[in-house]
Amino acid sequence: MKILVTGGTGYIGSHTCVELQQKGYEVIIVDNLSNSNIKVLDAIEKISGIKPAFENFDLADTQKTADFFKRNSDIDGIIHFAAFKAVGESVNLPLKYYYNNLFSLVNILQSMKDNGIDNLVFSSSCTVYGQPEKLPVSENAPIQKAESPYGNTKQISEEIIFDTIKSSNIKGIALRYFNPIGAHESAIIGELPLGVPNCLMPFITQTAIGIRQQLSVFGDDYNTPDGTAIRDYIHIVDLAKAHVIAVERMVNQKMKKTFEYFNLGTGNGYSVLEVIKSFEKVSGQKLNYQIVGRRAGDVEQVWADTNFANDELGWKAQKSLDEMTLSAWNWEKKLNEN
Ligand code: NAD
Ligand code: WQD
Repeated sequence: MKILVTGGTGYIGSHTCVELQQKGYEVIIVDNLSNSNIKVLDAIEKISGIKPAFENFDLADTQKTADFFKRNSDIDGIIHFAAFKAVGESVNLPLKYYYNNLFSLVNILQSMKDNGIDNLVFSSSCTVYGQPEKLPVSENAPIQKAESPYGNTKQISEEIIFDTIKSSNIKGIALRYFNPIGAHESAIIGELPLGVPNCLMPFITQTAIGIRQQLSVFGDDYNTPDGTAIRDYIHIVDLAKAHVIAVERMVNQKMKKTFEYFNLGTGNGYSVLEVIKSFEKVSGQKLNYQIVGRRAGDVEQVWADTNFANDELGWKAQKSLDEMTLSAWNWEKKLNEN
C-alpha cells in the first residue's frame, strides 16, 4: 500500500511516516519545506531503516499538484497534513492562510477525483469546538464560530471535503487533534518550531535549556482548580498511530459513513501549572516562569470525549503526561547537543 503524506517532514507528519513504515506501508512525502527541514528524511530513515520517497513542491500550485498525481496515480491513500498552523500569524495574514490551506486541499481533492484515488485522512483540530458548553467535548458538539482565520480554514476544509465526498467516490476521515506534544522516544525526530514558539511545550523546553529567559503563564484567573487553562495534551506517537489505524479503516472498507470525524486526545485535561510540574519532575529542572495576563483568543478549558475514537477506531492514547514532557525534554537536549 502506497500512502502519500503531505507535510510529511513536519512535526506530526514525520512521526506518522515512521509509524506507517513500521506497519509496512510505502510512504511518499510531498512537502515544500516552508516549515520543516530536509534533514528530517534522514532522521526518518534512521528510525525506520527506509528513506521515504520525497518531492518538494507547493501543493497550492495547481499545475504542479496535477502533474504529481498524474505520475503517482497508484497512491492508495492520502494523509493531508500540509498547512500553515500559526494561529496568531493567521490573524495578521489571513489571506496567506486561506490561500495555502484551502488551495492545497482543493488541488488535492481535484487530483483525487481525476486519478481515482478515494481515501483521504485530514488533519483537523479541536479548535473547531471553540469553548464547548459541555466537557468532555464529543464529536457531536456544535462547531463554533472560529476564533482565527487558521481555525476557520479547518472548518471550511471539513466542509469542502464533506461536499466533495457527496458528489464523488472519495471517502474521508477528519481527525480532530487536541494538543499534540512530545517527541519520538529515540529523540531523533520531534517538534522544530521556527523562531519563538507559540505553543506551551516547546516554550517550556527552550526556557529550561536557556534559549528563552522565562516562560509566561497566560492567566491564573480562569475558572479551573488552579486558575490556569486546561488542555488535553496527547503524545505525538499516540497521535501518529491513530493515523495508521484511520488509513487501515479506510483501505479495508471498515468505515460506517463516507465522511467520519474523530477526536484525538487522551480524555484527560491538564492545567498549564500541571504541565510545568510534570516537566520539573521528569527533568529535575526548576522552570523559570511568571504568571502574566490571559492570551487573547485562548479558551478556558477543553478536553476530549474519546469514546467514539476508542470504540470505533479501536485506538486509545497510551502515554502519560510525564512520558510526554520527558520525551519533549530529551528531544530538546538532543537538539542542543552540538
Ligand atoms: P508542521 O508545520 O510541522 O507541518 C506541516 C508541514 O506542511 C510542514 O513541513 C510544511 O513545510 C508543509 N507545508 C505547509 N504548506 C505546504 C504546501 N502548500 N505545500 C507543501 N507543503 C506544505 O505542522 P504540524 O504540527 O505537523 O501540523 C500538521 C497538521 O496538523 C496541520 O494541518 C495542522 O494545522 C494540524 N494540526 C496541528 C496541531 C498542532 O498542535 N501541531 C493541532 C491541530 C491540528
Ligand atoms: C496551551 C496552553 C496557553 C504558551 C494551539 C492552537 C490550536 C491547536 C493546538 C492547531 C494555553 C498556555 C502557552 C506560553 C502559556 N493547533 N501557554 N504560555 O492554544 O491550546 O492550541 O495549538 O490546530 O488551534 O490554538 O496550545 O500550546 O499554545 O497553549 O501559558 O508561552 O498553554 O495559554 O492555555 P493551544 P498552546
